[in-house]
Amino acid sequence: MKILKSAKQIFTSSNPLIIQNGSIVFDEKILWIGKDEDLPKEYIKEAKEIIDVSNKVIMPGFVDPHTHLVFYGDRLNEFELRLKGFDYLKIREMGGGILKTVKDTRKASKDEIKNYVKKIIKNFIRYGTTTIEAKSGYGLDFENEIKLLEIINELNENPLTIAPTFLLHDVEENKSAMDCVNEAISYLKFIKDRNLAVFVDIFCEKGVFEIEETKKFLSEAKKYGFLLKLHTDEFYNIGGSKLGVELNAISIDHLNEITKEDIEIISKSNTICVLLPSTSFLLRKNKYPPARELIDNGCIVALGTDFNPGTSFTQNMQFIILLAVVILKLTIEEAILSATINSAKAINMDKFVGSLEVGKFADILVFDFEDYRYLVYNSAINNLEMVFKKGKRLI
Ligand code: NIG
Ligand code: FE
Repeated sequence: MKILKSAKQIFTSSNPLIIQNGSIVFDEKILWIGKDEDLPKEYIKEAKEIIDVSNKVIMPGFVDPHTHLVFYGDRLNEFELRLKGFDYLKIREMGGGILKTVKDTRKASKDEIKNYVKKIIKNFIRYGTTTIEAKSGYGLDFENEIKLLEIINELNENPLTIAPTFLLHDVEENKSAMDCVNEAISYLKFIKDRNLAVFVDIFCEKGVFEIEETKKFLSEAKKYGFLLKLHTDEFYNIGGSKLGVELNAISIDHLNEITKEDIEIISKSNTICVLLPSTSFLLRKNKYPPARELIDNGCIVALGTDFNPGTSFTQNMQFIILLAVVILKLTIEEAILSATINSAKAINMDKFVGSLEVGKFADILVFDFEDYRYLVYNSAINNLEMVFKKGKRLI
């Protein structure tokens, strides 16, 4: 049992939202949290380690609900082309894009991919992420998709908690979108029987998988008991968000192009809006999702990195929180909630992670500042001093 004692503030992502002068007692899970003056004496006697964190801020570990964790090789050259003005979808037509990473990933062995990904996981931790969702999607054929899902599962709790997603990501060369959908449907039983994924996702976009194909894939996946996610309404609004709500998806992600009518439909549902501002930022799109309108209309907003080699090569949720405040106009509190408890909801993990409450995993961050608002104010500076994952100190 450990105690983090006398923090200046604890941002709980729960109720009360902020505890001034608080302590937290934990082993693998949180045993007690509250104001210093209420800390039971027995804990102080029994604790194996008491760490004084006066003048510091405690927060829950960040939960990143949208990452493309497993692939091999970067797309640095494309990034540079985009800086010169080339468009993402244009580069895709020129033979770059997702299919380029598919080629590199298929060539790599399981061990090569694993070693590549382990370095990336270190970066997630360095910036305070303790739970992530991870998608397959750079294999496309059966053998390679399964290889990627197996890697995701083998890396789970090592040390990040990982929620696995089978993603139908792109149309293979010389195949129609519907052929790819039918193929992917034929993998679902195998994936379910081996418990390789909890979620399925699809790139629902004009010229990739359109409404008819998306509907078919997700409806079949639903029959197997997968929870549904969609990459949608990112470049064009083709009605993907509406479809997501209709199918009771757990989350709809991107949403740059959603309309007022979409917002109204989403607000009447439990579907979570996962916003990925670094993708628009790094693609130099001046179009961001209408985050303020979503929140003001009662929709639940979560934030993620969209970590992937093409559009968003970042593992840093602190950067995402900064963009959410400055560009999406969330308050600092909303942004932190969106990166913790709301993102935990987007991956159905909110019973275990996303807030500092008794019984949840002791996924705890300690920052070397005295006010949580410094997370954004001290922009792009990593003040993270300690990271605990299930009570074990990683940093
Ligand atoms: O979320 N839009 C589809 N998938 C990724 C991009 C993947 C890639 O370019 O490799 C995204 O932005
Ligand atoms: Fe994505």
